[in-house]
Amino acid sequence: MPAQLKGSTALVTGATGGIGQAIVRALHARGANVIATARRTEMLDQLAGDLDRVEPLVADLSDAADVVALVFGRRVDVLVANAALPASGRLESFSDEEIDRALDVNLRAPIHLARALVPGMVERGTGHIVLISSLSGKMASAGASVYNATKFGLRGFGFALNEELRGTGVGATTVFPGFIREAGMFADSGARLPRGVGTRTPEDVAQAVIRGIDRNRPEIDVAPLSLASGARLFGFAPRLVSGINRRLGADPLAEAIAKGQRDKR
Ligand SMILES: NC(=O)c1ccc[n+]([C@@H]2O[C@H](COP(=O)([O-])OP(=O)(O)OC[C@H]3O[C@@H](n4cnc5c(N)ncnc54)[C@H](OP(=O)(O)O)[C@@H]3O)[C@@H](O)[C@H]2O)c1
Repeated sequence: MPAQLKGSTALVTGATGGIGQAIVRALHARGANVIATARRTEMLDQLAGDLDRVEPLVADLSDAADVVALVFGRRVDVLVANAALPASGRLESFSDEEIDRALDVNLRAPIHLARALVPGMVERGTGHIVLISSLSGKMASAGASVYNATKFGLRGFGFALNEELRGTGVGATTVFPGFIREAGMFADSGARLPRGVGTRTPEDVAQAVIRGIDRNRPEIDVAPLSLASGARLFGFAPRLVSGINRRLGADPLAEAIAKGQRDKR
């Protein structure tokens, strides 16, 4: 049975970000009580001031103790693990500490949050885990190795979890956004896409989250067909797709994105 959103409690990580805010609003519009978490207190308070039924909760997901404290003793019906660092740039440009922070926030925290919340959901026979990955979780490229590692990891985790939860009444969905315009880590980078590369909005991602919960879809892409198809083809012919991407300007684009996201390590 899909999780009923009206009256449920949803925990959204990365709630201060471009996509996180849209997800909080979409869940709230469906009648959920939302626990909105991130590090920036003022932005969380503003969100809670705008919307009733939103509880702000500050936590640093790179800190294992904060991850535990976030869910300790709480009933959560829906987890949306959305927080992430862009972790863009070539491997040698990262310090060891930056690599660890990206792994902790993007991959370790979602797994531990799910581990803490799933047993209660299974016991109640209803609930949903949503993981926000990226098309970078299906298609790897130079200048995104650390980000690719975390987002491919989420893909495997999310699909396996959906299988493990079969028959329990609890669902799991992994969402794969492409380039998102207007707000969020790509829009903030200021990088310009080659002509013809399409984008989607934060609201499109939020609606995919809702769809995933309503229909228990294991995976949902949020990207134009051309990009989503490229990512799927990568699974069969990675070198072919990489060659095409390079010819279309993937390397300078990756460099521009990494430059624009340098302050988010
Ligand atoms: N934007 C895109 O084009 C795009 C494309 C594909 C996938 N995605 C994925 O979509 C999700 C949301 O990204 P976005 O575009 O909304 O990015 P964003 O605007 O940069 O937001 C990132 C969020 O993560 C939180 N965060 C970062 N470090 C944290 C930490 N140590 N502890 C707790 N929270 C932390 C930030 O909150 P604080 O800074 O307040 O802590 C913020 O709320 C991510 O998983 C991202 O990988 C985005």
